[in-house]
Amino acid sequence: GDGDSVSITVVGASGDLAKKKIFPALFALFYEGCLPQHFTIYGYARSKMTDVELRNMVSKTLTCRIDKRENCAEKMDQFLKRCFYHSGQYDSPENFVELDKKLKQHEGGRVSNRLFYLSIPPNIFIDAVRCASSSASSGNGWTRVIVEKPFGRDSESSAALTKSLKQYLDEDQIFRIDHYLGKELVENLSVLRFSNLIFEPLWSRQYIRNVQLIFSEDFGTEGRGGYFDNYGIIRDIMQNHLLQILALFAMETPVSLDAEDIRNEKVKVLRSMRPLTLDDVVIGQYKSHTKGGITYPAYTDDKTVPKDSLTPTFAAAALFIDNARWDGVPFLMKAGKALHNKRAEIRVQFRHVPGNLYNRIIGTDLDLATNELVIRVQPDEAIYLKINNKVPGLGMRLDRSNLNLHYAARYSKEIPDAYERLLLDAIEGERRLFIRSDELEAAWALFTPLLKELEEKKTIPEYYPYGSRGPVGAHYLAARYNVRWGDLT
Ligand code: BG6
Repeated sequence: GDGDSVSITVVGASGDLAKKKIFPALFALFYEGCLPQHFTIYGYARSKMTDVELRNMVSKTLTCRIDKRENCAEKMDQFLKRCFYHSGQYDSPENFVELDKKLKQHEGGRVSNRLFYLSIPPNIFIDAVRCASSSASSGNGWTRVIVEKPFGRDSESSAALTKSLKQYLDEDQIFRIDHYLGKELVENLSVLRFSNLIFEPLWSRQYIRNVQLIFSEDFGTEGRGGYFDNYGIIRDIMQNHLLQILALFAMETPVSLDAEDIRNEKVKVLRSMRPLTLDDVVIGQYKSHTKGGITYPAYTDDKTVPKDSLTPTFAAAALFIDNARWDGVPFLMKAGKALHNKRAEIRVQFRHVPGNLYNRIIGTDLDLATNELVIRVQPDEAIYLKINNKVPGLGMRLDRSNLNLHYAARYSKEIPDAYERLLLDAIEGERRLFIRSDELEAAWALFTPLLKELEEKKTIPEYYPYGSRGPVGAHYLAARYNVRWGDLT
């Protein structure tokens, strides 16, 4: 109810994610009036810090999404007053009991709902869940725990993690974040498909030739190699972010918008997919490159990465869904760091027009004349459809033009950060955008054999220069399935 209190504890409060994403997202929600009236935010970490020091730290990364709103400073002030700090060990029940006492004071006898955001490394994760769940259960409202990847590194370790989590929490208390699900254009996928007449009838092997899911970043690990080297790009991006997008893209129509109905459909797609083999992928790693007098480092130049690391910083993969809708349609994924641009997009390439009257004019490269739907998740969000069009004039010349929904031009409102939506959903108990354990299991089942094989065979990645378009192997892989990457043409 309205009189209830919500205490949000950010465990790992001095970490990067907390500073860059979690606190700013909480502030944005406060600014928009989305947080409940009685809320308190606690930062929890090992270092000693006062409330004031926490507030100073947090205040550095708070921004008002829409500049020039006069009351921004005032709002920040009000927000920071509701932020507190508690220093404690992640595996100390006593420290969490002390936290519990402080929370109770703020809750002032109201129904106390508690949200814990675990923004800490996997090795201390379970201890923290154990401590948090036992002390927090003394609250008389709900207790929910948000967890961030990595959710293990393969099927076995992930299953073990799920099992230990379930010793302390029920499935409906666990909110597994995949922040890509909180991105505006990913959420819009279902609207696009199910709320327009013109897409869904085409959404199958009958009309779609291939689907491409592309993620690229124009920077390397830059000191974050310690985490990354143990996981690699396949676990960091493909097994979660890109696969989640794929599931939403390819799932059957859910019975309703209810979280369980949607997640049931996602699981079905994932379970209809073929596990990947070595043959279905190309891996790469960036090497140093000098351009314009600047030398960009190789992955293995990162101080936190072993010199002889074979960890992929790039991967391209071909996936297949063995069901009636998608039989034979290649879903190509490509993800990489230290590439030439920063982008996340979905490309849908449609089939050729049978018996196209204009083939003679189009010429021999029919591929260039097929329709393509592009959903640009970021940056500069857009949805556009490439169509053939007559170039105006007396002659008959065709070109490809875009029907373009460009968000910046169409919507004046700033797009919220993914973490804002996800945090709000967690507070409201909306589970639609969080990963259920059976989804996670199905996702790992697809990638685990491949990951094992890569590691056992010590597969050498194809080296590509920092800032390039990635290894050429990605083109050969696509060509095997008669596909050209849409982002390069
Ligand atoms: C994270 C990965 O999940 O997503 C990072 O661990 C990556 O390696 C990040 O940089 C990308 O997120 P975004 O929202 O910036 O595209």
